Amino acid sequence: MNVINTVHDVRSLVNKWRKEGYTIGFVPTMGYLHEGHAALMRRARAENDKVIVSIFVNPAQFGENEDLDAYPRNLEGDTSLCDSIGIDAIFAPDATEMYHNPKAFVDIIDLSKTLCGVTRPIHFKGVCTVVSKLFNIVQPNNAYFGQKDAQQLAIIRKMVEDLNFPVTIIGVPIVREEDGLAKSSRNTYLSPAERKAATILYKSIQVGQTTIAPGSSTSSIIHAMTDVINTEPLADIDYVSIVDAVTMQPVDTIDRPVLIALAVYIGHTRLIDNFSYELH
Ligand code: PAJ
Repeated sequence: MNVINTVHDVRSLVNKWRKEGYTIGFVPTMGYLHEGHAALMRRARAENDKVIVSIFVNPAQFGENEDLDAYPRNLEGDTSLCDSIGIDAIFAPDATEMYHNPKAFVDIIDLSKTLCGVTRPIHFKGVCTVVSKLFNIVQPNNAYFGQKDAQQLAIIRKMVEDLNFPVTIIGVPIVREEDGLAKSSRNTYLSPAERKAATILYKSIQVGQTTIAPGSSTSSIIHAMTDVINTEPLADIDYVSIVDAVTMQPVDTIDRPVLIALAVYIGHTRLIDNFSYELH
């Protein structure tokens, strides 16, 4: 498998594949790959002739007081996981390859202001900018994103629609640990006591799933979920919100497809989780 560090070399490879008539699947990541990423990679492997995974801890999506420097890295482990899944190439640029005193950015209004956008005001601008660049570099037919980051997925879908990117976005369900904790590179920050406490996110999700019904008020569901999280002393809620599944704006009543999303600090580590609900 190829590990490529430059935009030039990715373009050469992709141009060759295109001439040969291959379809290209793309999985953007920040590395430290786990079974959540692997689910995206396997799906891409099954649905495309060639698959590229990018590994890039994107400075533009981290706020000043966030964990850019601490973000875990393991290119060797990542490479062997990609190899075992049959990925064709990894694109692992450094920050100077991706950014040369940039003046152009991609920002999606409204959808990026709710949920995680409140505590992370520049986050989605950084995500949209790097994903746009990666789409222009890799030019994939299909790109794979996890529902774990549901707001990110909704924003990327809107970006692709609004800016006419010729790529199909495919959402992949959340992969969880046995006790329900959503897999995340950030779970490695948790101490053993915090790791146990972190199961409270999924317990809250499960209560939400049993409480929600067509026509119910969102505040009652949010209360029920919040009460669960507040039983855990190590947990500190950032938000528990219910938003329209497409616009990411809060709703009062369950009268359309919605996203139920939460962000909770366990010690210093901020974890997110969610579920989607459609009226049947
Ligand atoms: P990262 O956090 O590495 O995640 C890469 C992709 O893996 C995202 O689409 C994310 O939703 C998906 N993913 C992570 N954990 C998952 C899980 N437990 N189940 C299912 N999918 C999961 O998201 C990013 O990187 C960055 O913002 C990026 C899109 C690469 C732009 O820099």
